[in-house]
Amino acid sequence: MTQPFAGKVAAVTGAARGIGDAIAVGLLREGAKVFSLDLGEPDEPRDGVTYLKADVADPASVAGAFGQIDREAGQIDVLVNNAGVQRVALAENMTPEDWHLVLNTHLTGMHLCCAQAIRRMRARGKGGAIVSIASAAGIVGIQGRGPYGAAKAGIEGLTRVYATETAAANIRVNAVAPGSTRTKLIEQGLKDGTIRGEWQVERIPMGRLAEPREIAEPVIYLASDKASYITGQTLVVDGGWTVQGMVHIADWLNVS
Ligand SMILES: NC(=O)c1ccc[n+]([C@@H]2O[C@H](COP(=O)([O-])OP(=O)(O)OC[C@H]3O[C@@H](n4cnc5c(N)ncnc54)[C@H](O)[C@@H]3O)[C@@H](O)[C@H]2O)c1
Repeated sequence: MTQPFAGKVAAVTGAARGIGDAIAVGLLREGAKVFSLDLGEPDEPRDGVTYLKADVADPASVAGAFGQIDREAGQIDVLVNNAGVQRVALAENMTPEDWHLVLNTHLTGMHLCCAQAIRRMRARGKGGAIVSIASAAGIVGIQGRGPYGAAKAGIEGLTRVYATETAAANIRVNAVAPGSTRTKLIEQGLKDGTIRGEWQVERIPMGRLAEPREIAEPVIYLASDKASYITGQTLVVDGGWTVQGMVHIADWLNVS
C-alpha cells in the first residue's frame, strides 16, 4: 500500500523531543522525508529525520534552515510549527525578556516559518499543508501564562489569516490545540512535585493527560489529503478540558 506522505517533505519545528518528536515519528511512518528545526540536540534521534539546528525566532536562522531543506530535498509540502517555550509569572512580575521570548518563539516563529514555507509552496504550485500547535491555554485563561496564552490565541488568529491568503493555492493552514500532554518534561514535573497532577486530571473529563502520540495523530490527519477541504480551523485535542463547566455539578445535583 502506498504511504500517504510518500514523496512528501515535512519540516517540524521543535522535533528534538516531546510532541514534536511524536509528530516526526508519525510523519516518518506515513512515508514523509522529515526535517527537524530545533535549538537543541534530539533526546532520541530517529533514523530518517534530518536534525537542523535552528532558532525559529530568528529570521536569518529560519531562512538558513529552509535553504538547507531546498538543497537536500528541493521541496517542502508540510510545515508543522511546534517549537515552544514556557515562562510563568503574574502580569506584574513578568519580565520584558520573558514576555518577548515566549511571543517570539511561538507567534513570530510561526510567522517566520510560514513565510518561508508558503513562498516555496506557492512557487512550486502543488499546494501544501501547515499545522501549528496552539494550546488549550490560548482558549481559557490560566493564571501566570500571560505571554503563552496570548501567543497561543495569536496562533489561532494567524492560522485563519494565512488560511485565507493561501487557500487559492491549495495550501491549507490549520492548528491543533492540545491540553496537558504527558511529555518527559511534564513527567518530570509530576515526579518532583512542581506540577500537581491531581489538579490537572480533576478538570479533565477523560480523567487523564494526553499521550504525545494522541496530539501527533490529529496533526498528521490535518496535514494529510484526508483533510483536503479543511482550512483555517483549530482542532482542540484536550480530553474535554475546555468544554468542562462545573467539575462536581453531577455530585451536587445528585445526577447519576
Ligand atoms: N506538553 C503540553 O502539555 C502542551 C500542551 C499544549 C501545547 N503544547 C505545545 O506543544 C508544543 C510542544 O510542546 P512540548 O511539551 O513537546 O515541549 P518541549 O519543551 O518538550 O519541546 C519543545 C521543543 O522546542 C524547541 N524549541 C524551543 N525554542 C525553540 C526555538 N526558538 N527554535 C527552535 N526550537 C525551539 C526545544 O528545544 C524543544 O526541543 C509547544 O508549542 C507547546 O507550547 C504543549
